[in-house]
Amino acid sequence: MSKTPPAPNANSIPVSRERSSACRVALAGFGTVGRAVAKILCERRNGNEDGLLRLTHICNRNVERKKQSWVPADVAWSDDFRTILQSDADIVIELIGGLTSAEELVRGALKAGKSVVTANKQLIARHGPDLLQLASANACQLEFGASVAGGVPVLPALRTGLCGDRLHGIAGILNGTCNYILSRIETDRIPFSEALEEAQARGYAEADASEDLDGGDARAKLAILALAGLHVRVSPGDIHARSIRPIEAVDFDYAAELGCTIRQISRADLKQTALFADVGPSLVPALSPFGRVQRNLNLVLTSGEYGGDTAFLGAGAGGDPTAVAVVSDLMFVAESLGAGPRPHGSQQLASPGVSSDLETPWYLRFLVKDQPGIIASLAAILSAHQLNIDAVLQKPGFDKSALPFVITLERCCAAQLRPALQEMSALPFALRACLCLPILR
Ligand SMILES: NC(=O)c1ccc[n+]([C@@H]2O[C@H](COP(=O)([O-])OP(=O)(O)OC[C@H]3O[C@@H](n4cnc5c(N)ncnc54)[C@H](OP(=O)(O)O)[C@@H]3O)[C@@H](O)[C@H]2O)c1
Repeated sequence: MSKTPPAPNANSIPVSRERSSACRVALAGFGTVGRAVAKILCERRNGNEDGLLRLTHICNRNVERKKQSWVPADVAWSDDFRTILQSDADIVIELIGGLTSAEELVRGALKAGKSVVTANKQLIARHGPDLLQLASANACQLEFGASVAGGVPVLPALRTGLCGDRLHGIAGILNGTCNYILSRIETDRIPFSEALEEAQARGYAEADASEDLDGGDARAKLAILALAGLHVRVSPGDIHARSIRPIEAVDFDYAAELGCTIRQISRADLKQTALFADVGPSLVPALSPFGRVQRNLNLVLTSGEYGGDTAFLGAGAGGDPTAVAVVSDLMFVAESLGAGPRPHGSQQLASPGVSSDLETPWYLRFLVKDQPGIIASLAAILSAHQLNIDAVLQKPGFDKSALPFVITLERCCAAQLRPALQEMSALPFALRACLCLPILR
């Protein structure tokens, strides 16, 4: 496909229908998303929808077992990435996942002058800025719209619809597994372990769900959103992540007393030269947009200096929704290749210091062996650290040998609170470390 700009055309509405040749697309990875992408591309071709994209290669290890009768006979199947790197494909789709092989493939494709579309969040979170530079140096494009929030078009919106604003904050429910588990505990007050088992049985959580539960998945996505929306280079490992594992049904009872519920919230706020970033369970108002997100949906809110707040809601994962995001990226790249690449990264990337020292009200839930003087001991420690109690909540009916109760604190910094938490958790009546959640209002 030519990369020279098309001649100006006064009647240029359906540009794609006037193309002389389709953009040639090679797909690497024929799994859940790859298969769904191939299906859409083949159905578009059968339906003669636009002639913009033509699937030419499919590459997967041990490819024989992957072959499908619905794929046109002129598509070449291979288990060697060199086949697509040496082919005349214009765009390579990377859907194998993982890091090492995916990085090799993407670098190889960009160096060979091929644009790349990927859904690989770990790859982009770790190497996005470098890969964008490589794409730009080779006059290619790198698009990764499916890497955050699957089928929710938040990254394309950051690239086009919101790029005229100066964004200073992005917050989201970015992990469908956590949201499924938390909203199931909320709805039926079931134990955490039962909600996790249910999520695994329904295919919403992997057998080892640590990446989801402990925040690794969400912080990779937050790093990508910060790159695309706030134009900052931040490593996922520098983002503080808290696990949802300590959340219990009783926390939803106490949160409800405060007009709130609990969600895993990922936030990045740019303040002058510092980036505040944090991922973890947080109290949010029950009737707020975040509080209303149920099951495995994703929600992203952006805050801009000129345009204010904008919300994006939808399916954060799944073969078909993610494939829609991949094919949309393909169409964007195919359209723009004709007019010369439109790389990301025209804006300079900043590398701010990353902090998790959130200043907010806090929810502290204790589990104690009941005895006289507990509140007095806790209040003494809080007072010694200049921390103000807002409320004390204790629901009746619990066994006194394992009594959960809550103290909420007025606004203070996480760094100020941390030493007090350590002291309170070490008191002899404390059965386990105090659960501490920010209250985001
Ligand atoms: N699934 C989702 O809902 C979703 C949502 C958003 C983003 N994503 C991202 O999309 C990408 C693909 O996810 P997926 O769910 O489609 O994964 P998947 O079902 O595991 O598919 C991956 C495919 O790539 C093949 N493969 C893996 N490593 C390979 C290698 N080194 N060489 C050749 N082939 C290789 C696998 O072959 P085998 O069959 O032999 O394993 C499999 O067919 C990942 O980056 C993922 O994070 C997925």
